[in-house]
Amino acid sequence: MIVVKTIKEVREIVKGWRKEGATIGFVPTMGYLHEGHQSLIKAACENDKVVVSIFVNPMQFGPTEDLATYPRDLEHDKEKCSQAGADLIFAPEPSEMYHDNFQSYVDMNLLTQELCGLSRPCHFRGVCTVVAKLFNIVMPDKAYFGQKDAQQLAIIKRMVDDLNMDIEIVGCPIIREEDGLAKSSRNTYLDPQERKAALVLSKAVKLAEKLILGGEKNCETIVSAMKELVNSEPLAKIDYIKIVSLDTIQQIPQITDNCLVALAVYIGKTRLIDNYFYQS
Ligand code: PAF
Repeated sequence: MIVVKTIKEVREIVKGWRKEGATIGFVPTMGYLHEGHQSLIKAACENDKVVVSIFVNPMQFGPTEDLATYPRDLEHDKEKCSQAGADLIFAPEPSEMYHDNFQSYVDMNLLTQELCGLSRPCHFRGVCTVVAKLFNIVMPDKAYFGQKDAQQLAIIKRMVDDLNMDIEIVGCPIIREEDGLAKSSRNTYLDPQERKAALVLSKAVKLAEKLILGGEKNCETIVSAMKELVNSEPLAKIDYIKIVSLDTIQQIPQITDNCLVALAVYIGKTRLIDNYFYQS
């Protein structure tokens, strides 16, 4: 496995692989990799070569968010990437990705303005911009994203379609801890008491699943039941619990095919997300 820090090196290596006729799979990450990321890398191994980017993208963090404290450990990440079958890690410094005179952004209406976009107003502009840049650098055939960030996945699919990027976007299932908590690099922020309290997210997701599969169609009823459950946990503070159409990320009154039950909840100071995707 090769580790590089510059755009030039990635381009040269990928060009060489392309000459040999190899297909390229790409997994963009912010590092501090866990089994969730490894499942994306393993899925990307359906291609001949797998590139993983590790870059804590400053542009997608708000001024009061956790950019400075976001966990970083390149040695740990190298180990996880090599175990999962990656061929190349691209781990640039911020100055390699954003030169001093940087002024171009990829922005999107509607899909970015609901759910996480409401409490993180510039987040998806940062995500779209960095992912578009990474796609232009790596030029993969396929790119892999986790369904845990379901809104992000919907946005990336829309961006690729709207901007005619010739890349297939593959969504991969949420990977959970044994007790149900969705894997996240931010779980490391939780102290033991908060870690227990965080289970309220996956419990709320399970409750929604049970209600929907039991035939409940009214979104307000489902959301109310989830809110009651989450509010019963003293360390939890709801950011949002909503049911939206996966295509538009707009709220819907009744359960339909392709709908997303999504929640963001603060456990202490840590904001966690989880979701349930329903397809009849
Ligand atoms: O999901 C993430 O880790 C990030 O948002 C991504 C896609 C790597 C862009 O920085």
